[in-house]
Amino acid sequence: MATWNFDQLKHHILICNGSTCMRNGAEEVTQSIRGEISRKKLDNMIHTSRTRCNGRCQDKCVIVQYPEGIWYKQFQPNDSSAFVDALYEGVSFDQKVSHYYKDSKFQRTNNTKKGVFKK
Ligand code: FES
Repeated sequence: MATWNFDQLKHHILICNGSTCMRNGAEEVTQSIRGEISRKKLDNMIHTSRTRCNGRCQDKCVIVQYPEGIWYKQFQPNDSSAFVDALYEGVSFDQKVSHYYKDSKFQRTNNTKKGVFKK
């Protein structure tokens, strides 16, 4: 068990480890993001958590970036380096890679399935 000191924390990344994402590379995505954070010595700035299904299985692998509330879809392990660089530089990753949709109004990018309302 760990109790981290989050005084320097700037970003919390939720990495979907639900069953659909796990069948489509989420373990590799998780390891690649965490590896990039460690390699760049950004562990105190960027915290990651594995989650269960985030309800957007069609978009696997799903990553959510807080506090900005940006949801990324079709995230691949080879996106990790640029993603972590963008967090460090304070620039928007969604301008570097098109795999995203944004919260606040939950805007979907082209070719992102709308999905269904909960009952
Ligand atoms: S398993 Fe990742 S969104 Fe459902």
